[in-house]
Amino acid sequence: MITRRDATLGLATGLLLADAAPAARADAAPPADTVIALPAPRLDGGMPLYQALKLRHSTRGYDPRAVSHETLSTLLWAAYGINRPATGDRTAPYWRHILVIDIYLAMADGVFLYDPKPHALRRHLTADIRALTGLQDFVATAPLNLVYVAHGERMQDVPLDERRLYASVDAGFIGQNVYLACASEGLGSVFRAAVDTGKLGSALKLPPDQFVTFAQTIGYAKA
Ligand SMILES: Cc1cc2nc3c(=O)[nH]c(=O)nc-3n(C[C@H](O)[C@H](O)[C@H](O)COP(=O)(O)O)c2cc1C
Repeated sequence: MITRRDATLGLATGLLLADAAPAARADAAPPADTVIALPAPRLDGGMPLYQALKLRHSTRGYDPRAVSHETLSTLLWAAYGINRPATGDRTAPYWRHILVIDIYLAMADGVFLYDPKPHALRRHLTADIRALTGLQDFVATAPLNLVYVAHGERMQDVPLDERRLYASVDAGFIGQNVYLACASEGLGSVFRAAVDTGKLGSALKLPPDQFVTFAQTIGYAKA
């Protein structure tokens, strides 16, 4: 059986750049080894929960305007950030207390991996692969597509179909957190299964045991 210790994300902390500037521009891609330390999430504000639930909906038309690092910080914390620092536990529940989901961010200036412990973004790819994150046109121009990737190798004692099931449920909880945070921040979002997961997994250069579950677009709704 895989223990939590075995399965804990082994991301090194590394050197964090003091980059709290507004969201990076597409024509100014940061260098390949970039680590962006996100500003502290805003946890004392936000909309009352029931009001956010009232506003939650799916959006399929996006303005290309970037989402600032400040807003991204709060969104990612709400999505799957650490809400109990003593244990490293998260804002979303997860299967058998084993962390299997990573969140990748596909943006105009490349792909980043969210590292919850230092609350930072780690550059994963320099290419703009947004168009590969889904089968709907808006994904190519929306400023941000989250991709929920599962570590199958951390689920070794369950059959393959169950791996996908549990990883999908984990991703779904994160997705709802994102929907509610987007409602609170005045952003649009849509959780998506219409993804060529094989092609996207290849574009992300995932190791053989890791797989894409779902994607979720985020951005300001087109006027
Ligand atoms: C598992 C799942 C997969 C979904 N896949 C897509 C998708 O690929 N594309 C899309 O536009 N919406 C997708 N959606 C969003 C649903 O279509 C949407 O939630 C539903 O129509 C209800 O609309 P609402 O979210 O505005 O309440 C998906 C939702 C879920 C839960």
